Amino acid sequence: MFTIFPALVDGFCSESLLGKCRSTGLLDLRLHDLREHTTDVHRSVDDAPFGGGAGMVMKPEPIFASVEHADPPRPLFLLGPGGRRFDQAMADELAAIAAGGGFSLLCGRYEGIDHRVREHLVDGELSIGDVVLSGGEVAACLVIEAVTRLLPGAMGNAVSPVTESFGADGLLEEPQFTRPAAFRAWSIPEVLRSGDHARVARWRAAQRLHRTLRYRPDLVEARGGLRDDEHRLLEEFPSVTYP
Ligand SMILES: C[S@@+](CC[C@H](N)C(=O)[O-])C[C@H]1O[C@@H](n2cnc3c(N)ncnc32)[C@H](O)[C@@H]1O
Repeated sequence: MFTIFPALVDGFCSESLLGKCRSTGLLDLRLHDLREHTTDVHRSVDDAPFGGGAGMVMKPEPIFASVEHADPPRPLFLLGPGGRRFDQAMADELAAIAAGGGFSLLCGRYEGIDHRVREHLVDGELSIGDVVLSGGEVAACLVIEAVTRLLPGAMGNAVSPVTESFGADGLLEEPQFTRPAAFRAWSIPEVLRSGDHARVARWRAAQRLHRTLRYRPDLVEARGGLRDDEHRLLEEFPSVTYP
């Protein structure tokens, strides 16, 4: 990963699941400080834009020098608001690439990056959404976390990405509850204590449908609407206990 703030990324990726994956070697995160490839006394990585305008632009030389020196795993993605939108499907794609030879990320700062980097150095551009951050580091951490948790062995058997939101059925996850069964005035749905595993599974599937229809109907549309068995599930469990 290429950045002018390696400590930012290192800190985030040293805790919790990512820290564990790094210590076991499952996540091999190589941080490259772009300033190590500057040539002036101020270690400048930016300069004023040609044609005038606000802010500074990242110079091409330190970026090309750093990438050419490290010869990182490819594809190399620039993080930027104009890139392909990063989502769970892309996290899946990158997890497969990571399990092969790996991939690399380049973080911009300032007003942006000299366009020749885009044209002649990187293989693509990733955006974490229609929002402008001050730098690519938070976006890179988001990508690294979303991808690492999908690597075989990262989460053990504790959580299956298949049953999570945007998993195999393309829906949002159902509501989750833990002890106590009664908290203040709110009790958990009775079905979860019924011991009837088949009924619990049907209730969960129905709740996934209810929540997705309410909050992300576009996801249901994207998979071609509701199937007959899903209509039946909604009839069996018509109420959403906790929307
Ligand atoms: C202030 S932004 C530059 C925004 C640029 N001037 C524009 O309007 O598109 C600086 C850096 O933050 C990162 N960044 C900002 N928003 C991002 C997003 N939505 N996704 C990924 N990276 C982003 C990129 O690396 C970018 O080069």
